[in-house]
Amino acid sequence: MSAPHERSLRLCIYKVFYILFFDSRRNIPGSLVDRIIYNHNFAVKGLRGKIHEFIDQQHNKYGRIVYVAPDIISVDDRKLVKYIISQQDFPKSEVYENLRLQRTTLNLFNVLDRDYHKHIRRSLAPAFALSYLNSLEPMIQSCIDVLIKVLNERIDQSPSGVAVVDMWQLITYLALDTIGETAFGFSFNMVESGKKHPLSDAIEKCLRNCTIANIIRILQYVPGIDKHENYFRKVGNSCDIAPVVTTLPEEMTAILNRRKAFPSGRRDILQIMIDTQSREDGMTDEQIIQESAMFHVAGSETSSNTINFGLIYLAKHRKWLEALQQELDEAFPTAESVHAMRHENLKNLTILNAVINETMRLRPVTMVGIARQTPETTTLGPYVLPKHTQIIVNYARMQRDKEYWGEDANEYNPARFLGDWPSDAFLPFSASTRSCIGKNFALLQMRLTLAHIIRRYNLDIVPGQNENDLVQHITVHVRGTSYKMAISRRDGLSENL
Ligand code: HEM
Repeated sequence: MSAPHERSLRLCIYKVFYILFFDSRRNIPGSLVDRIIYNHNFAVKGLRGKIHEFIDQQHNKYGRIVYVAPDIISVDDRKLVKYIISQQDFPKSEVYENLRLQRTTLNLFNVLDRDYHKHIRRSLAPAFALSYLNSLEPMIQSCIDVLIKVLNERIDQSPSGVAVVDMWQLITYLALDTIGETAFGFSFNMVESGKKHPLSDAIEKCLRNCTIANIIRILQYVPGIDKHENYFRKVGNSCDIAPVVTTLPEEMTAILNRRKAFPSGRRDILQIMIDTQSREDGMTDEQIIQESAMFHVAGSETSSNTINFGLIYLAKHRKWLEALQQELDEAFPTAESVHAMRHENLKNLTILNAVINETMRLRPVTMVGIARQTPETTTLGPYVLPKHTQIIVNYARMQRDKEYWGEDANEYNPARFLGDWPSDAFLPFSASTRSCIGKNFALLQMRLTLAHIIRRYNLDIVPGQNENDLVQHITVHVRGTSYKMAISRRDGLSENL
């Protein structure tokens, strides 16, 4: 045997010996193999967007704290989740740093350094304050108006009065147009054109490639995977982010410079970021560009997927669709009141809020959870975790746990949010210092969009589609990111609504 191979074999034997007899985590349930190497399932399911199935399987077999891969455990116990997220506020895992547009830059979402995070979060907070949302609402509303116009046109073009539309795509485009309006200063106009805007497309490709490249890095450690070397080399080559990375900053710098040269008077998120530049500790141009691009990702699919899953659940559960229609009919009885719909009159509607909560409970933004790491040797429940143990905080499992939610935990039942619910087992926007900065923005956008659609239209499922074939990459979506629905005007509603 050659010297390097001998060295690797010795290292491997030493590692197994250490894991079996000395590692303080050796009593954490899970398979021995998963502690030593990346399980074929973990890596390949990750690439296929099915990693949640593997992690679920391990939890079902081993319990609430489980080993899933070398140095990675998953936790779905609500008390431990509270300890990790709120009481100890563990830092984000290093994997977040791979989610970046350029190798050298960080943003609010992926930065690990606490001081830098605090500084950027403080700079951006005014843009997401409740008081400021009022000035963003007309921009969000203008995007929804375009969606309604497009849906009405599609219905009018159909002789039967029923239009079959790819709702998933339209709502995804709507969320991107909205982020364009608020964080880039112009709508990408994707709902109206039916096409992806080049800038939006470039940001999306860039991040998708970073994620795939990240998984491919893991694949090289999976025994037996070298058989598929050619396939992974091909995928790796198609992930070349270099061309995207060079054009992106140029385009975004141009947008920023245009706004600075010709102030428009718009009070959008872009302007709030530019305004910080009058302070000594204000944001640099580079930071503004990175944050705008980050909002494009963090603030679009998250909301649009939730709205889409919400529409699918409603179309499948007529009782709740009708209950929501009735609530909206009572709140907005005339065409004028529908046109003048404001978030102020929506935010306390009980069924609307229950429907949104139930959707986020069953379809959280990620079906895996969020990743943290121990900053130092730490006790978690009965186990001692060394520094840098990666922890998957498994919100998705916690939110459909029968012990916390009752026997019908896996079923869609918004009624559970009409009374008391176990709030410590429901963290759709996470908590503590790294909670979602866009929570109020997202709630406003989701309430307005759902209310405008459900007040006006009847929704029906188009058979032959599987909304439960979920794909988990950065967020969770239906396979193919496409879902068609049959849309018609509700009885008795005037055509100008
Ligand atoms: C239904 C909609 C949304 C849900 C359920 C959601 C959920 C979350 C969750 C769970 C986190 C924590 C992630 C982690 O720790 O890994 C997060 C963070 C974040 N979200 Fe959201 N989000 C939504 C919409 C938005 C929107 C609309 C924006 C911006 C316009 C946004 C911006 C962010 C940012 C910047 C962070 C990182 C915050 C930090 O680390 O300080 N999100 N979101």
